[in-house]
Amino acid sequence: MDFVDARDDGGGRLVVRHRLHSPPGVIIVSTAVPGPGTLEIVARVLFGDDMAADAEEACEAFGVFFEQFDDRFGLYLIPEWLPTRENLRYRKAIRRLDKILERVFSQRRARGADSGDILSSLLRARGENGVGMSETQLRDEMMTLFFTGHETTALALAWTWYLLAQHPEAEAKLFEEVDRILAGRAPTVQDIPLLRYVDGVMKESLRLYPPAYGVVREALEDCEIGGY
Ligand code: HEM
Repeated sequence: MDFVDARDDGGGRLVVRHRLHSPPGVIIVSTAVPGPGTLEIVARVLFGDDMAADAEEACEAFGVFFEQFDDRFGLYLIPEWLPTRENLRYRKAIRRLDKILERVFSQRRARGADSGDILSSLLRARGENGVGMSETQLRDEMMTLFFTGHETTALALAWTWYLLAQHPEAEAKLFEEVDRILAGRAPTVQDIPLLRYVDGVMKESLRLYPPAYGVVREALEDCEIGGY
């Protein structure tokens, strides 16, 4: 059985798909994850409450985007500019995400208040020349964070639940530590060093199933890496 993908459905449920070799097919495991899904969490960290109205549309567009993005890992021979059905769906998904970001940026600019999120920090940021970010820079930074912060975390959690389901003794230890240290409250940054077993479980899960297992780079000029 191979892992295919994992998405949160925006309603706090993690949907994990596995491919079966024998008999061939796909099985879907839907896990109720307490609290919000990873898209909602990352959206709140980046945009505060301003993304709430668009969360469903963003989730849908990201679904299409990730599907096409994953395929590109295996299909590098098909250039992005070719108007294939997949390329058109991919571009449409990016346009939908761009529209959502534009809406959020203009809302925030009109309100002008500092919401204590990443968008506020970037809007406040000034370069050495005292100039703020251009619209394109802001869009690129926020889109990168939205993209990198969502799927990676969803995948890491999906694999962790998958592994814990196979190792009930580790699962029991993990919940024992969480109950002992947090006693029912939500964790804070200060709790992280205390949750040592959780830390070990996450690291082992990341070691076995790294969500970002490959990163593509294009060299701009000749260079030597490790003697090659
Ligand atoms: C389990 C969770 C995560 C994993 C496994 C992960 C993994 C990675 C990896 C392997 C890279 C590439 C490093 C390289 O350049 O060689 C990367 C880059 C990056 N990650 Fe993460 N990440 C995670 C969560 C996040 C989150 C939550 C955010 C932000 C909200 C984030 C933001 C970024 C950014 C901005 C980059 C740089 C992208 C660039 O090259 O421009 N990541 N991450």
